[in-house]
Amino acid sequence: MTEKKKYSDLRSARWFAPDDQRSSGHRSRTLQMGYDPADWEGKPCIAIINTWSDAQPCHMHFKERVERVKRGVLQAGGFPLELPALSLSESYVKPTTMLYRNLLALETEELLRSHPIDGAVLMGGCDKTTPALVMGAVSAGLPFIYLPAGPMLRGNYAGKYLGSGTDMFKLWDERRAGNVTQKEWQGMEAGIARSYGHCMTMGTASTMTAIAEAMGLCLPGASSIPAADANHQRMSTECGRRIVDMVWEDLTPNKIITPAAVRNAVTVAMATGCSTNAIIHLIAMARRAGIPLELDDLDRIGRTTPVIANIRPSGTQYLMEDFFYAGGLRALMRQLGDKLDASAIDVTGRPLVEGLADTPIWNEDVIRPLSNPVYHEGSLAVLKGNLCPDGAVIKPAACDPKFHRHRGPALVADSYPELKKIIDDPDYPMTPDTVLVLRNAGPLGGPGMPEWGMIPMPKALMKLGMRDMVRISDARMSGTSFGACVLHVAPESFIGGPLALLRNGDIVELDIPARRLDMLVPEAELAERRASWQAPEPKYERGYGHIFSKHVEQADKGCDFDFLKTDHGRPVDEPVIY
Ligand code: FES
Repeated sequence: MTEKKKYSDLRSARWFAPDDQRSSGHRSRTLQMGYDPADWEGKPCIAIINTWSDAQPCHMHFKERVERVKRGVLQAGGFPLELPALSLSESYVKPTTMLYRNLLALETEELLRSHPIDGAVLMGGCDKTTPALVMGAVSAGLPFIYLPAGPMLRGNYAGKYLGSGTDMFKLWDERRAGNVTQKEWQGMEAGIARSYGHCMTMGTASTMTAIAEAMGLCLPGASSIPAADANHQRMSTECGRRIVDMVWEDLTPNKIITPAAVRNAVTVAMATGCSTNAIIHLIAMARRAGIPLELDDLDRIGRTTPVIANIRPSGTQYLMEDFFYAGGLRALMRQLGDKLDASAIDVTGRPLVEGLADTPIWNEDVIRPLSNPVYHEGSLAVLKGNLCPDGAVIKPAACDPKFHRHRGPALVADSYPELKKIIDDPDYPMTPDTVLVLRNAGPLGGPGMPEWGMIPMPKALMKLGMRDMVRISDARMSGTSFGACVLHVAPESFIGGPLALLRNGDIVELDIPARRLDMLVPEAELAERRASWQAPEPKYERGYGHIFSKHVEQADKGCDFDFLKTDHGRPVDEPVIY
């Protein structure tokens, strides 16, 4: 057992304890804020990284919830310091929050490194905030605990439950087809998001918080608690209490995020019917911890892990509130049995699987046994082929099975405005087997790999009653989306990946069981096209976008910045205090 730390071992003691001029300044300025030496002397300094803002509806409750965390820190004998960080609202930030995930990661890392901090509670939940906060805190290397925002209540309109994103997309297609009135649409707008908390489908937010818990970074059961439930308040206080002990125990992220923890996170992600975005974030998070997770690892685990969470969009009926009432993520982990690696621990310092055997499962239609899955394989499939030599992903569980094997002519748009002309024209010439392609939507082309990958159904095909078709892009799609959408094509078209060579009418072949995506064009013809391809103008000449463009990696590598990877240069530097 590791020996407990002493106060003199703490980072914050370097700021506050010495009898010198600089430390005197630190003490004096802490007194200026109305604190007393009794507030900090001999106590760990706990950062609470809070992604609350007036422009972040998913984290509205963090303004109150942070007080619960502070209460817990104080109860356990710590000194809480709230540090606000970029709130990254999926609803408002353009062109896409993905452009800024690495910025929040960088901000988190530097906030922790530059201040007198011994441990941290990370408050996030809306899509990119989870991976960003975790990536930054892993690189900072200090003990931390992740406090998930919790899902919002079920949407409700006209007596029907509505799921964020998923039902909006479905109803929008119906509205475009003339089946939903303006009044009905307004009713849906008011009913689909009716409390604080993140999206309550199994979209990116729910997936990523489940991944954080399965990786051992949350208190057991924390990720499933609805934001509006009083259990969430108590859990917040408990996060504050626990992080103080984690500091004394020196329970640093490298002791929790092991290869076993990453495998557990992938297994749980697959079983939840996870968002396609999870692939990118899982790779980036694991690599920050020095674990070289690859697309093929994800596909391998996916092939043997059925989807057992019957939550939209992979499921048809239930939402995250139902998931909590059915037993939550702990119940899902119980169903997974020995698919989880028992050697992994969590923030409690005890095995992740401890107590799972006694976890109640209240509804086996919501959280299915392995023998009665929602989908027989995991949520995501990784494709390879001459259109995506470095990989692409699709969510087979969320698309019409008739498209699992498909062959059809390409119809290519080079930009979103060009795509819109195609999909909004009720007479655009196309056939039901058409493969609709959007390019220049990847990490550099988008820029930031926006969620354009669930290309809306073209009016010309909706007239024929179609509600799904094969679509391909180097973009991402919202975790709440669905359909036969091939995403994350790598390398992306903007840098000359093979998608850039595809032309209208070329035959594209998708074979999900064989994990293939190819264009049936002779290699000699492709070589000619490659030789005449011209790189587009760069998107940014200055500012953060310029840094992003110079350093972002492709989707199969997790879209992290090349200079933030663990293996880049020296590990974490401690600041010098003069
Ligand atoms: Fe925040 Fe969906 S908009 S999680």
